[in-house]
Amino acid sequence: MFLISFNRLHPKPLTYRVTSMRTQIGTDLPFAPPPGPRPLPVIGNVLRFGNDKNILFHFIDLWNEYGDVAHVKLGSLHVYVVADPEHVHHVLVKNPNNYIKGTGYTGFRLLVGQGLVTSDGDLWWRQRRLMQPSFTPKSIVHYFDMMVETTARMLDRWENPTPSPALAASAAPNSPYTHSQQSGNTLVMDDEMTRLTMSIISKAIFGVDLGEESGEVSDAFHEAFAFVTERTMSAFALPMSVPLPKHRQFARSLQVIDDFVGRQIAKGRQQESNTLLSILLRARDEETGTAMNEKQLRDEVVTLFLAGFETTARSLTWGWYLLSRHPQVMEQLRAEVDTVFGGRRPTLDDLFRLNYTRRVVDETLRLYPPTALLGRQIVADDVIGGYRVPAGGIVMLAPYLTHRLPTVWPDPERFDPDRFLPEAVAQRPKSAYVPFISGPRVCLGNNFALMEMTLAFAMAAQRYCLIATTDTEISAAFRGSTCPSQPLALQLLSRA
Ligand code: HEM
Repeated sequence: MFLISFNRLHPKPLTYRVTSMRTQIGTDLPFAPPPGPRPLPVIGNVLRFGNDKNILFHFIDLWNEYGDVAHVKLGSLHVYVVADPEHVHHVLVKNPNNYIKGTGYTGFRLLVGQGLVTSDGDLWWRQRRLMQPSFTPKSIVHYFDMMVETTARMLDRWENPTPSPALAASAAPNSPYTHSQQSGNTLVMDDEMTRLTMSIISKAIFGVDLGEESGEVSDAFHEAFAFVTERTMSAFALPMSVPLPKHRQFARSLQVIDDFVGRQIAKGRQQESNTLLSILLRARDEETGTAMNEKQLRDEVVTLFLAGFETTARSLTWGWYLLSRHPQVMEQLRAEVDTVFGGRRPTLDDLFRLNYTRRVVDETLRLYPPTALLGRQIVADDVIGGYRVPAGGIVMLAPYLTHRLPTVWPDPERFDPDRFLPEAVAQRPKSAYVPFISGPRVCLGNNFALMEMTLAFAMAAQRYCLIATTDTEISAAFRGSTCPSQPLALQLLSRA
């Protein structure tokens, strides 16, 4: 995921420019370069971005000011911001081979190597073909019982919550959370959701729970991910060979991860099981009949682990934030859950009847797509919206912005799950809703994540009410994914 940060609450209201669609690839028209601020020699428009890391909102402002395809020069790099669904569709679906991951993912590769998220070309295609069958809707049903069991364990623990480290840290003098923390019934949802999604993905991949207890391996994953995120976001990063303390710490974390994954692979070779790792160990390419080598397998499972817990945890946290601020939506969700579950544990059939809960999930991912911003490197000159986008530049897609275009999403800041009623969905343009992106590189784990999120909201609502402790708005900060800029503390009440 393209790692960039921002922490402003909302961009300026969007003034969507209605222009004719001018995607005219293959014609001989002399296409103009897209408009943008005048660059200074050498540094380009870097000063405009300042150093406050609100880069998403800088891109949004730029797009507001210059329209459909906005150009900015960052040093020697040409960047083109696009958000209109038709342009997004062009990049992701119609001409995806021209828009690769390329150099924007270098920092992330230090940790995940050439796994599915970071690879390009033939390697990506071979691996996707090999892994896709394990993530079809039919295949992921296999994880349903484990997800229910893991979510139920979390909910049992909530009967006797222990104060979390993040809450303790936030409970400084004058903290609004101090009282509730002492009474032991306030949860920091960020922590809870991270523990849950880490438990689920580690059980799915390795058959081991890395979420419930913080330990050496989960710490190493957290630290290593934080390091590559920060490195990708910094304007200047020293080579890894420079022996800085943080470089040495990263090397240690990487060693812990590699030792753990190595042990799991060795175990998987000896003993067949239903874990994803075991399935991938035995997977054979349908054309060549070959299996993944050890390094590739390592890269893929580390990729799945990181892609699998962070994004889903953030989305669940935002969902709780939205639900706690919209009691009438919460009420409707609860009514559905009571009707569908009828007081017992969910079954697989129930999942397909949780239509409103699923719409809450969809609307959460619209307002807070974890991947708010993602970059693609342009392989060959192309034309988007009637403008020339030359090879070597970066196209910057911003799902956060695409999901807020007033022409597509009336009153875009309003939290309204009914935007996802089937008749409303059918009327929207293709690639207007892209939390998992669209096209061949669509998120491999989308069905897995949707099942996990729907179950988590429904099962928690069945047993508890989660109530906001303050009406302070929480802003978004983009640190590899769209995170709340402060811990989300909710008060927990058991339902009578
Ligand atoms: C709400 C949760 C999730 C969201 C919003 C999400 C979103 C995304 C997005 C936007 C991408 C494209 C990234 C890019 O092109 O730069 C992606 C790719 C990917 N995601 Fe997810 N993801 C989620 C959960 C998961 C889970 C649970 C897994 C694994 C079990 C997963 C595995 C992957 C993989 C392997 C890719 C790379 C696919 C490829 O390029 O072929 N994701 N995800």
